Amino acid sequence: MTQDELKALVGRAALDHVVPGSVVGVGTGSTVNHFIDALATIKDRIAGAVSSSVKSTERLQAHGIPVLDAATIERIPVYIDGADEIDGRGCMIKGGGAALTREKIVADLAERFVCIVDASKRVEVLGRFPLPVEVIPMAAAQISRHFAAMYGGRAVLRAGVVTDNGNHLLDVHGLRITDPFGMETEVSQWPGVVTVGIFARHRARICLLGTEQGVSTLTFD
Ligand code: A5P
Repeated sequence: MTQDELKALVGRAALDHVVPGSVVGVGTGSTVNHFIDALATIKDRIAGAVSSSVKSTERLQAHGIPVLDAATIERIPVYIDGADEIDGRGCMIKGGGAALTREKIVADLAERFVCIVDASKRVEVLGRFPLPVEVIPMAAAQISRHFAAMYGGRAVLRAGVVTDNGNHLLDVHGLRITDPFGMETEVSQWPGVVTVGIFARHRARICLLGTEQGVSTLTFD
């Protein structure tokens, strides 16, 4: 199977985790696009969606799925999203699609995060994928210096990218994230950091992993 076929497989499998009658949290990316297309087939059985990006909102609306304002939602049962990497505890790197801030906001509304990925995203230690960090533009250089001094990471500005929130993105290379909780807490405190793409506090509780043998379900505490 191609990587896209594996993404489609887990996108469809995620329908089993949608709670009938509820509002569904919807992430961003090529795997989630398959989930959105599958969600359209049961759209009469959900109350709507809360979206994590302009792109996902447009795709949901094109299917006639109502998109609700996250600011009006107190709690949703499930948030379904992809990841760039996921480790053995369900901690993830996210933000390859530049949507990490809204993704973390919607994940925070959810009782559980269901991660949908192809098998190539499962890693032992996070960090081979450059860590995305959304930053206030005037702080980008100082944040880059902090990464170099504290973690030996090399931050590169993602050229030409402005997030849905009007900010810039750094991609930090050369990290080996053995303590995702600690690094998420530390980096989140640096002035000018909007969101760091480590999802440890908002880690996945369930991961649907697309493999040649089919969908493998991993669960985490
Ligand atoms: C979007 O900002 C990301 O967090 C995506 O969830 C991640 O990049 C996975 O994307 P794909 O599903 O396209 O691989």
